[in-house]
Parts: sequence; structure tokens; C-alpha cells
Amino acid sequence: MNLTLQPPPKHELAPYKALENQELQTRIEAARNVLGDQLLILGHHYQQDEVIEHADLRGDSYQLSQLAADNSTCRYIVFCGVHFMAETADILANRPEKIAERNGQRVTVILPDLSAGCSMADMAAIQQVEDAWEELGEVIDTEDITPVTYINSAASLKAFCGKHGGVVCTSSNAPAVLEWAFKQKRRVLFFPDQHLGRNTSLKMGITNAEMPVWDPYADERGGNSIETLEASRVILWKGHCSVHQMFRPEHVANFREQIPDIQILVHPEVPQEVNDLADISGSTGKIIDVVKKAPAGTKWAIGTELHLVNRLKKEHPEQEIHFLSPVLCMCATMYRIDLAHLCWSLENLVDGQPVNVIEVDAETSRWSQIALKRMLEIK
Ligand code: 13P
Ligand code: SF4
Repeated sequence: MNLTLQPPPKHELAPYKALENQELQTRIEAARNVLGDQLLILGHHYQQDEVIEHADLRGDSYQLSQLAADNSTCRYIVFCGVHFMAETADILANRPEKIAERNGQRVTVILPDLSAGCSMADMAAIQQVEDAWEELGEVIDTEDITPVTYINSAASLKAFCGKHGGVVCTSSNAPAVLEWAFKQKRRVLFFPDQHLGRNTSLKMGITNAEMPVWDPYADERGGNSIETLEASRVILWKGHCSVHQMFRPEHVANFREQIPDIQILVHPEVPQEVNDLADISGSTGKIIDVVKKAPAGTKWAIGTELHLVNRLKKEHPEQEIHFLSPVLCMCATMYRIDLAHLCWSLENLVDGQPVNVIEVDAETSRWSQIALKRMLEIK
């Protein structure tokens, strides 16, 4: 939710789109020099090479949340990532204790292109979630459920989890968070990525029969019988990532047939049929780490966003790296952050007119902080 009424930008965007990359790069660096350590540019691993080169710090969603939560010097965070990441940075960087440390000053968080959303996050609208909670309450005791949301969700859903004794997770800490959730209550309602919820829970010994899927568009009870819901341990929201959904078991089979000593490395947003066949599954941070530490000559087929896989190929010529799918799976919304938008947002900032400011309203922020702080405390 962005409640700040923003004045018109000093510089219009259109002329930036006509500039050559080299000029944009030079001007981005000049703006960074002017802003110095007041500015922190954060970049997610799925960003294009030419953009992420300008990031002060890169990371997966968990690492980026920690960086936003811990920073004490910056006044502006420019987030090269997607909307939920910028919202999370705003919530964490502007916790009351951090604002007090800065003598009352807020950190301004900027998303260079406001249309950089996440289609998975959009699959769990807060009204659908509230309705589901109420409907579930007619069948099972909601006091018995810990709501857990993947960080890929709107701030309003994080706030819902905060209010109902729940928590946020990322792809790197989902097992630990689910363990925590089960210590609180008997059941979990997991949003919005059914695949991350299922892949993680299966590894904890929960069976598919105990994991019904809640379809927010179904006529009643999310498409489930009363008995199914009563027998549930984890109720999975019917959401998915359109990028990771494209990886198929036959892609794994093809690579195993062609290159017998290949290792399959995937992100846990892939469907269960693919995750089950993989050698290793983990966050973008883990994928990078695993490849970095592997000996020369290791062969990989990697199932995650294209820009990251291509970067790994470039950075590790000593290893043989393949993209797991024959079709190109790229995150179109991450790709919306380009040099033109980055330069435009930085030059407006230099001229004292921040554009595309992401500011979560105080009430939503307060409840989201509870769910996010729980996550950061779980080790
Ligand atoms: P990571 O937290 O693993 O970087 O994942 C973020 C994401 O959006 C994956 O699709
Ligand atoms: Fe969202 Fe999928 Fe893009 Fe990640 S890759 S930001 S989950 S759409």
C-alpha cells in the first residue's frame, strides 16, 4: 500500500528511455557519488546483469530483508527487485527502534518501476484471505491454525499473519519457520505458494493427504470437503509462480538421460514432481552458494529464473551449467527494472524529488513487523 501523495517528478521518464546504456551507466554512477552513503541500492539475484552491477548489496529475499533491517546509515533505499521486497524493506527499515536510532528520520524506499510486481503475491488478495479464514472457522477452530505467509505477498497479508499469531517465511528458512509454526498450533495455513508449502512440508513427513489446497475461487470451503479440512495439517493456498511452474519432470529426465552425472539444482517454488527429482533444492542464495563451492567440472541443470542461471554460467566457466527448461523462464516483472528507470529514480532523488516511494501505512506496517520480526528471530 502506498499512501504517500507524491509531487510530480523533477525529471520525466520518457527521455531516459531514449538514452544509450553507456550514458545511463555514467549518470547512475554520478548520482551514486553525489548521494554517497545516504543511498543503499539493493538488488535481487533475478535482476539483469546491467542493473545488478549498480547494486551496493545483492541477495535472496531473506538476505535483502536482513540488510534493510540492519542498515543504520542510509536515508534512501532504491530497491532493484519487486514490489513486495520494497514494501518489506520499508517495514523493516522503519521499525520504531530504527527511527529512534536515526533521531526520528525515516528511510525512503524507492522501487524504480512501480509495475514491477509479483504475480504470485497477487494470487492472495487480503479480502480472499479474510473470507477464507472466516469460512474455515465454520469447519475447524482457527485458534488451532498458524497462518504462514511466504515473503512473496502483500504487506496486508503479512499484517494478517502478524495479527493471528503467524509469521513470514522465505525460501531459505521455510523448514525452520514451519517447525516453529507447528510448535505454536496443530495446523498451518500457508500462503500464497502451494509448491513451497508442499515441498517443505513433505520433507517434514506431512503427507499430501494432509495438505488440501484452498482455491479462493471455489464455491465453498476452498473446494474441500469438511472431512478433508478436519484431517488437514497444512492447508495450502492455491498460488504459484508462473516462472517456476514451467519446469517439468521430463526436463529432468532428458538431462539425466543425456548427461548421466548431471546434478539437478532447483528453487523450491518448482512443482513437487520436479522438486522430488532434484538433487538439491534451495533459495537463490543457496543455489549461488552451491555452485560457487562445487569443484571445477561439476555439471548442473538449474531450475530457476533465467537471468540468474545465465549469470552463474558466465561467472563459473570452470563448471558446466545448463538451464533446466528448453523454454526460457524469466521473471517479466523483475525485468521491468532497467537502467532507464534506475537512472530516472536516482536523478530525481539527487534533485530532492523522490519518485515511486513505497510507504506502507502505519497500521499495516505495525502488524507486519510482528510477523517479520518473528521470522528474523527464528534460527
Ligand atoms: P529467493 O528468496 O530465493 O531469492 O526467491 C525470491 C523469488 O521471488 C523467487 O521466485
Ligand atoms: Fe514472483 Fe515468480 Fe517473479 Fe519470484 S520469479 S518475483 S515468485 S513471479
